[in-house]
This record gives sequence, structure tokens and C-alpha cells, in this order.
Amino acid sequence: MRTPTDDMVENSNNHSKSTDKIIPRRFVISAPEAKAMAEQRNLTLPNLLPSLVPMAQSLSRAPISNYPVGAVGLGISGRIYLGANLEFPGLPLHHSVHAEQFVITVAVSVAASDSISEQITHIAVSSFPCGHCRQFLQELRSASDIQIFVTSSSSLSFIPLSTLLPHPFGPTDLLHRDALLLLEQKDNNIIIQEEEERDGTVICKKSERVQYETEVKKAAERAARRAHAPYSGCPTGFAMGDEKGRIFSGSYAESAAYNPSLGPIQAAMIGFVGGGGGEYGSIVTAALVETKGSLVSQESTARILLEKVAPMCTLHVYHCTLKI
Ligand code: THU
Ligand code: ZN
Repeated sequence: MRTPTDDMVENSNNHSKSTDKIIPRRFVISAPEAKAMAEQRNLTLPNLLPSLVPMAQSLSRAPISNYPVGAVGLGISGRIYLGANLEFPGLPLHHSVHAEQFVITVAVSVAASDSISEQITHIAVSSFPCGHCRQFLQELRSASDIQIFVTSSSSLSFIPLSTLLPHPFGPTDLLHRDALLLLEQKDNNIIIQEEEERDGTVICKKSERVQYETEVKKAAERAARRAHAPYSGCPTGFAMGDEKGRIFSGSYAESAAYNPSLGPIQAAMIGFVGGGGGEYGSIVTAALVETKGSLVSQESTARILLEKVAPMCTLHVYHCTLKI
């Protein structure tokens, strides 16, 4: 498994090569590597997943519950994605990230970055997925066929998601049958309105800082382009820069049932943890790109979250419009 190195996160000193290297690679096992691991242990790829759950679980940041959850997903590409739960002290519990959402967000980020279509076929997880996660997974193509293995359960076998969530409410209740689902490549056609930047208190006007903030803005824009927001029509992206000059980003991922949606700030937190970010307090600058005057806005949530986890962070909000 790869450990974090410079090619896994975007470095502010090396932006020229970065179309998007903001990939939480620490939480990804490449297809050849996964194959080799399975062969070495004489296991099929799906049966390799449960053995990786403790490693995923060890990546959890759960200071409220002290209940680490680890999840491991297998993509049709042969890649394996890891995820763990994140909790944010001082904030309402709904800001938390579930391990299953983490896995899907890593897969979304890698698929977008490598321009591949990905589909999740199997997930192994340390506890039974909660109702929100069962619902969140409905955003994926062929959701009912996703095979789930729960390592704490006595059954020791994969069960289809359709058994865990029969008669699901999902994308087809709201969208056209041909609509692109989560994990399917999309490029929301957004245009940032330069003059609309607000509330960016630039602490230090040094040109380096301005250049850094421009890169963070660009990362947020890319994240907004790949956001999954078919229900609100408000694609949003969020990016954060830390004091080492690394940039982490995340895209909004809506759920047909609204509440299980994963906000762009949570998605960027996944990018931060997955990309080898340290203390949240090391985040010094952030950018939110969202549609102007939209029915759904992430700005106030972004401010609340940053104020608690990274109080020194400067937030820039950029409004965009959708090109038809
Ligand atoms: N948790 C998950 O990560 N996945 C689930 O589906 C069940 C719950 C996390 C959320 C929270 O951080 C902790 O477990 C206790 O609920
Ligand atoms: Zn859950």
C-alpha cells in the first residue's frame, strides 16, 4: 500500500503539473497492488476486503464516540478504496463523516482524477452500515447488487445491499433514467464570477499568498465541476490549503433523500485526512465555489465548521453560474 508522498497531494510550489493531484492516495490500493495482495494471501479480491478492515479502522478520527469504523470498497477497476469515520468536536453530530461515505468519496476523487468510470461492487465494513449509509449508497449504479460484508457479524458472508435496504427510495424516483449517477464522470459547466468573491480577508498581501489562494480557488472550482448535485442543481466544491502549501479538495455529493448528502466541506475533510493532512488547525486558507443565489448554499456551514476546526483559516467564497 502506498504511503503519502508528494505525488499524492497538490503542492503549492509545483502547480504547473497539477491538473488534479489532490487524491487521497493513502486510502487507495492500485489494481496491480490489490491483485498481488490477494494472490499472496490466496484470496479472491472480494475476500481480501475483510482482512483490510482493521487497517481502515485504524485511520478513524472519532474523538466523540471513540468508536472507530473502517470500510473497504472494491471497484470494478480492481482498485481498493479505504475509509474511516470522522467526527468533529464542538459541532453538531450531523457534521460527522461515515466510513462508507469516506470510501465512496475516495473512489469519486480517484475516478475523476484518473478520468475512469468506476463502479463499486463489494464493501467490507466493521459494523452494519447505518440507515443513512444504506441510503447514500443508492446514488451508485446497480446499488442493489453491491455486496456487503460485515466483519463484526457472525454470518461471515457477503449480502446484497438490497437485503439491507429493500424497497429503496433512490435516484430514479427523482431523475430521468439516463441521468448520471455518483461515480459517473461529469463536468458541470460552471463559470466563476470573478467580481463575486466575498469576505476574503487576505491576512497577508504577499504575492506568494495571493498565488496560493488562487491555486486553492482553482482546486475548489475543479471540485465544483465534478460535484454530484442533480437534485438541487447547485454543484459546489471546496478546497483547503495547509501551512505546508498542500491543497486538499472535495466535491458535494447529493443523496436523493437529501439528508444523507455529503457536503463539500466534509468531502474536503476526507481529502485532507486521506491525503495525509495532520491537525485540522494547520488549514490556513479555504475556498468555496457555489452557484450564485441558489436554493442550496454551503457557505454558512463552511464558516461554522472552519471556525471550530481551523479558526485561523481564511475563507473565500466564489460564486459561479451554470452555463447551459
Ligand atoms: N458510523 C459509520 O462510520 N458508519 C455507519 O454506518 C455507522 C456509524 C460512525 C459514525 C460515528 O462516527 C460513529 O460511527 C458512531 O455512530
Ligand atoms: Zn452510516
